[in-house]
Amino acid sequence: KYLQEDELSEECKKLLLTLPKERGWISSHIYNYQGFWIGRATTLQGVLAFQQHFQAQDSDIILVTTPKSGTTWLKALVFALVNRKEYPFSGQDHPLLVKNPHDLVPFLELKLYLDGKVPDFSSFTSPRLLSSHLVYASLPNSVQDSESKLIYLCRNPRDTFISFWHFTNTLRLHYIDTSSIEEVFDLFCKGVSLFGPFWDHVLDYWKKSLENPKRVLFLMYEEIKENPEIQLKRLAKFLECPFSIDEEKCGVVDEILKMCSFENLSNLEVNKNEKLSTGVENKVFFRRGEVGDWKNYFTTKMIEKLDHIIEQKFQGSGLRF
Ligand code: A3P
Repeated sequence: KYLQEDELSEECKKLLLTLPKERGWISSHIYNYQGFWIGRATTLQGVLAFQQHFQAQDSDIILVTTPKSGTTWLKALVFALVNRKEYPFSGQDHPLLVKNPHDLVPFLELKLYLDGKVPDFSSFTSPRLLSSHLVYASLPNSVQDSESKLIYLCRNPRDTFISFWHFTNTLRLHYIDTSSIEEVFDLFCKGVSLFGPFWDHVLDYWKKSLENPKRVLFLMYEEIKENPEIQLKRLAKFLECPFSIDEEKCGVVDEILKMCSFENLSNLEVNKNEKLSTGVENKVFFRRGEVGDWKNYFTTKMIEKLDHIIEQKFQGSGLRF
């Protein structure tokens, strides 16, 4: 469960008082720490503990996204891929059938370090599968200095925003009224979104992936949707566990994709009716899972505004949205 603000450490309470803040998407305020936005005061404690105590291992695999970029899908794909020998797809006992991907590949700052304490990693087998929403520059030094592999999943900012808006409304509904789309769109455009500005987050990992392609793999949600086989094989190659000819012949690539498909995961009992340990319902991570849903929501004014920002921010980067 999330901590209450008065349960935070003194270090955290003091730091909070110094941070710039804005109206929040989910809770009342969003705080700017090291240039990115933290959605809840209580998340800061997890971020600090992760930064101060995490010791990366060279074999670690760390998945990074901005929220609503398809993190749940990526977690499922990497888990199924890396553990394909241990957990084959025949039978009914694959962990993905009974656990939500967020329980199989936990967030560092949002789960393992959330209470500010050092977690027990003894039950993790190697390679450890972990995840984070942190911007590259704020990752602990031990991650930056290690040989661990980072997999970054990026999604078109328009769909990411719409997914985010739905998600925050679902979470807010329980205790406050929903936010209007215009209100949160303006915040998103100003860069005020969880772990954002969106563009800085994406561009930093994009640059790292170009500088060091053996350590950072940059994937796009839309590319996985369009050509899942090619992207899964790319992922396997990057993780140095490429599919053998035999595996390809036996249809393992397809089995992983089917297991991790939106249709399969979203219809499982665990994802329809159960909750994460943080109390969030698993079903909120599955909405439509499509490309281009933003067209059903954006007004002409919104299209023009975001097009302009995308043009400005990504110009010359080689990334197109
Ligand atoms: P939509 O709201 O557009 O449907 P995250 O996992 O980062 O929180 O992102 C959630 C988004 O990914 C949601 O997008 C959700 O529906 C989509 N998603 C979840 N599982 C998916 C899957 N297996 N395949 C494709 N998209 C998926």
